[in-house]
Amino acid sequence: MSIRHFINLADIPPASLHAILRYAHELKRSKFAPPQVLDGLSLAMVFDKRSTRTRMSFEVAMKQLGGHTIVMNMDEMQLGGAESVESTAAVLSRYVDAIMIRMSDQPLMEELAKYAEIPVINGMTDRSHPCQIMADILTIEEHLGAIEGKKVAWFGDSNNVSNTFVEAAPLFGFELVLACPEAIHDRVPAGATVTADAAEAAKGADVLVTDTWVSMGQEGKSLDMFWPYQVNSELMAKANDGAIFMHCLPMHEWEEVTEEVAKSPASVIYDEAENRLHAQKAILAWCLENAGVSLRQAGFEFV
Ligand code: CP
Repeated sequence: MSIRHFINLADIPPASLHAILRYAHELKRSKFAPPQVLDGLSLAMVFDKRSTRTRMSFEVAMKQLGGHTIVMNMDEMQLGGAESVESTAAVLSRYVDAIMIRMSDQPLMEELAKYAEIPVINGMTDRSHPCQIMADILTIEEHLGAIEGKKVAWFGDSNNVSNTFVEAAPLFGFELVLACPEAIHDRVPAGATVTADAAEAAKGADVLVTDTWVSMGQEGKSLDMFWPYQVNSELMAKANDGAIFMHCLPMHEWEEVTEEVAKSPASVIYDEAENRLHAQKAILAWCLENAGVSLRQAGFEFV
C-alpha cells in the first residue's frame, strides 16, 4: 500500500482531492460530534516558522478525531544539525503515524517524505501551501457552491499561496487570474494567466483573494509597486454580485486590503480560518486511511 503524502496537490488524484473536500464538509456538519477515526494515532508537528492557524487547527483536528500531537520547533531537533533527513525520517516513522511539517525548503520536505514510512503533510513551504488551498476551496464551495467555472482573482505578490492556487486551478476547473506588478511576472508559475491590470482581473470575478506583500523572512522590503493591487471597495465593485473576499491571514493591516473590505459582509476570512480545521481533519483522515483508520465504520469512504 503506497504512503499517502500531502505535499503537492498535483501529485494527488483529483478524485481523492474532491473526496477529501466532501469529507471536510461532512466533518464540519458534525463538528460537535466528530467521529473518532484517528483513535490512538499520533501526529508529529514540526515548525521552522511561526504559525497560529496551521498549528492550532492541526492540533485541534487530531484531538477532535481521537488522536494525539507532539509539537517541536526545528531548532530544537537534531535535524539540520547532527542528524540527516534520512535518519530523522526513519526515527519519526517508529514513533508517530504521520508528520505535519512547516519548513521553508520544499526539496528538503520532499526528501523527508522519500525516507519516511508514514505520511508527510506540507504545512507550508516557501513554494506551496496546499492545506491552505483546500480550506479556501472548502470556503468557496460553502459560500458560492461548486468552484468549477468560477473566476478567482488574486492580487498583489506572487508567493507560496498563489503558486498553489495556480496548481489547483486545472485540478478543480476554476479560472484564475493573477494581478501582480509587471516586475514580478517572471516569478509567476509558467502557464498561469497574469496581468498588471488589477481592475481587469477584478472584472467578473467571483472571488477576490490576496495575501500579505511581506511574507515571513521578507521584512523591510519596499511595498511601493504593490499599492495598485490593494483590494479596496473600487476593486470589489468590479466583481460579480455576491463576490467574496478571502485572505489566508495574518493580514498586514491595512496594506494588501482596506479595513472597509476586510470587515465587509463580502469578507469570509474567518470562515476561511475556521475551515483550516475541517480541511485538516479530512486531510489527516485521507493520509491515515491506510494506517488503520476505519472510515467505513464512520460511514465515509474515500475513492
Ligand atoms: N494561513 C496560515 O498558514 O496561517 P499560520 O501562518 O498562522 O499557520
